[in-house]
Amino acid sequence: MALDRLLVTGGAGFIGANFVHYWLARHPGHRVVVLDALTYAGNLASLEPVRGCENYRFVHANIGDETLVEDILRREEINAIVHFAAESHVDRSILGPDPFLHTNIMGTHALLKAAKKVWLEEGESASDRRFHHVSTDEVYGSLDFNDERFSESSPYRPNSPYAASKACADHLVRAWHHTYGLDATISNCSNNLGPFQFPEKLIPLMLINILLGRELPVYGDGRHVRDWLYVEDHCRGIELVLERGRGGETYNIGANAERSNLDLVHAVCRAMDALFSADPGLRRRFPDSPAAAGRECSDLIRFVADRPGHDRRYALDAGKIRSELGFAPAHALDTALARTLHWYLDHEDWWRAVMDHSYADWVKRLYGPLDRTAG
Ligand code: NAD
Ligand code: TYD
Repeated sequence: MALDRLLVTGGAGFIGANFVHYWLARHPGHRVVVLDALTYAGNLASLEPVRGCENYRFVHANIGDETLVEDILRREEINAIVHFAAESHVDRSILGPDPFLHTNIMGTHALLKAAKKVWLEEGESASDRRFHHVSTDEVYGSLDFNDERFSESSPYRPNSPYAASKACADHLVRAWHHTYGLDATISNCSNNLGPFQFPEKLIPLMLINILLGRELPVYGDGRHVRDWLYVEDHCRGIELVLERGRGGETYNIGANAERSNLDLVHAVCRAMDALFSADPGLRRRFPDSPAAAGRECSDLIRFVADRPGHDRRYALDAGKIRSELGFAPAHALDTALARTLHWYLDHEDWWRAVMDHSYADWVKRLYGPLDRTAG
């Protein structure tokens, strides 16, 4: 399928921005139009490297603006929608689910309607157009430690408002394929790490707190398990599904790299200890970090009250995308983590600019002060 004119929703967010860079580097002749509402999580600085590139255009808009989306699909002759735009943080969905329902459900609905109208009702051929929906492993719910990993046929059992809204969006995409014949694919991915991630998510939050000498809040007993995939590998998986996946199908994209949160936080701490002891410049740049005084970063770990409804374990069986499309992650977790930490150290301006200082207060309101220990 020659998909060479992409509309990327949410392209100013973490994975979307990585995808735009990945795509333009690998497909320099392709057109990429980014549509993003620039919520707190959207950041034009993440797209700075492609600003001025003649094949790239940024549109500041909400995915719910159906008329505008239709207009873009027509004028730009878009033949692939890669749909990342979402409210994506579980903790925020617990505090206030409304934007999650608006964007993740109604926003996806608006995009589907626009695609149906322009591609299926006005278009001459629907066969060379594809709607790819980017989703999450969280729609499957929670596993116990000894359970089999989730496959594409596992039942949907979303537990958080975020997961429920993504599950609903997945069902809408499936229904648009089944009922109206829209060529649509879905990928459900595990937790990503890498450049440009907003520092409310586990890895950048821990890293930045280490640099600033702030406590590292580990929810509950820290034994919750996630499967971690480097964001570039996720982009490669989406590319494979977009180009060669079967219409109407869902593909799990996982890394087979399960870690407990506590193990992962300790790995970040050890890596930072080593970086500080090898580079005196870091001690001068981040004097508040315990590592600057030769102490272990893990001294900052605090067990705090658990996230309400916290899913115990996510793990994906990625056998389908491996056997059908030849997908395999190229980055082991240790390498991915090292790359990510180096990126944040090299891009201090980026994270300083996006840090929302009210965030710490907001976490306190949700979970109470850090000394309400649970572990
Ligand atoms: P993110 O929160 O970093 O970025 C979301 C982007 O969407 C932001 O740029 C934001 O401005 C934009 N956006 C939000 N609401 C919008 C709206 N109504 N209209 C237009 N733009 C809007 O999210 P992310 O981590 O990059 O996740 C991207 C997608 O991947 C999401 O759909 C998420 O569910 C999925 N996903 C994420 C992960 C992960 O580990 N981060 C894992 C699996 C799946
Ligand atoms: P997060 O990065 O928010 O991703 P998700 O909830 O989508 O998996 O959190 C990853 C895991 O880390 C999750 O089990 C919650 C836990 N966590 C903490 O223990 N402390 C924190 O400060 C954050 C943000 C997350």
